[in-house]
Amino acid sequence: MIQKSMAISPEGKLRFGGADVEALARKYGTPLYILDEGRLVENMRAFVRGAEAAFGRDTLVTYASKAMCFKALYPILEREGLGADVVSGGELYTARQAGFPMNRVHFHGTYKEDWEIDMALQAGVHSLIADGEYDLENIARRGRVAGILAPVMLRITPGIDPHTFAAVNTGMECQFGRPLETGQAMEFVKTALKQPGVRVLGLHCHIGSQIFEEGPFALAAEKMLNFCRQILDETGWSPEYLALGGGFGVRYRESDPECSVEHMLRGLGETVRRLCREKGVPQPKIILEPGRSIVADAGMTLYTAGAVKQIAGGRNYVIVNGGMTDNPRYALYKAPYTVYNASRMTGEDLETYTVAGRCCESGALIQENVRLPRVQGGDFIAVACTGAYNYAMASNYNRVPRLPVVLVKDGADRLAVRRETLEDLLKCDI
Ligand SMILES: Cc1ncc(COP(=O)(O)O)c(C=O)c1O
Repeated sequence: MIQKSMAISPEGKLRFGGADVEALARKYGTPLYILDEGRLVENMRAFVRGAEAAFGRDTLVTYASKAMCFKALYPILEREGLGADVVSGGELYTARQAGFPMNRVHFHGTYKEDWEIDMALQAGVHSLIADGEYDLENIARRGRVAGILAPVMLRITPGIDPHTFAAVNTGMECQFGRPLETGQAMEFVKTALKQPGVRVLGLHCHIGSQIFEEGPFALAAEKMLNFCRQILDETGWSPEYLALGGGFGVRYRESDPECSVEHMLRGLGETVRRLCREKGVPQPKIILEPGRSIVADAGMTLYTAGAVKQIAGGRNYVIVNGGMTDNPRYALYKAPYTVYNASRMTGEDLETYTVAGRCCESGALIQENVRLPRVQGGDFIAVACTGAYNYAMASNYNRVPRLPVVLVKDGADRLAVRRETLEDLLKCDI
């Protein structure tokens, strides 16, 4: 099976993180997100240990909260020695309410409201990532109002194509940061170094998501370290920190390559050390921002199958009791997932299905051309590796309440996020 957390019971049913998923369905209802805490911790440790081995003890691994954000995640991150990056006041508030140490938090965002900047400064975050001159000026202005010298890092677009989905490619021309090739990145750095009210701690880049090879990261490091050399020559300044972003690949299907974090980081560590030596720049403290690769393969979604509809001469649809409200990624960019019939894992009567959600859009599919042991209404359908950008992107379209999140660990379960109620749906209506 695609996830290490999955196993099949002697009765041919799916188990996840040591728990019987049908028992979880009876206890918490479906649809349901299930997250294996054991796998989460394994993923966190792979990054922390890999980064320390590659870059030394000053490295920071900051989990990208946008991948999945809820309170119970932050004590686990803290225990495992990670930081967190947040991209909104909402994510910052969640981490803060969970008691997460704010000096391990980086605050991102292309548009930061004044109240969000104030909140980040008052909380004492490690740094705010300035997305450009306008953002920098706002951060400096709010810092002056608060009497706080604002710690910032500067977002740079290095101009790298990591060959991933266009929607998640951020290394080429896009709305994030300031570009290297046009010279605007250098202007940005010079402006920031002269900007009263801020302390420039470092540079930041993020080239995209679902990257399976070291190559694009090494190229980003090379471009950024060349840039560091240029900055040193022109200004005498060297960044204390260099953030290389997230984007490490996750296997969603058997046909996807394996992505060994340890191996990739080892190679990247060697590249960074060599480049710093060759270019004569002091080695900055490296920051990594994995999101997807921490949570995706620790999570799955469990649905109940309703109607199974055969269109004469056409497709076989199985309709499940969730869909684009809890996982919009197929509707958005045809993101691939592996689907199982959790009630009949070993059946040999395979059929081809289009798994459709309950929302009122013909594009509201979860996956097409899925081979499953014959599905009957009432079977449980599992969608694998949904820990990242599913709960985080969930909506109330069709006024469907959001799903609960259950954490499992060695067979024991605990509720981390409760299911939304109908009353929750009305709580902002006047
Ligand atoms: C600045 C930044 N850092 C980190 C990430 C996390 O990327 P991933 O979840 O692919 O690791 C993102 C994702 O969009 C990002 O924009």
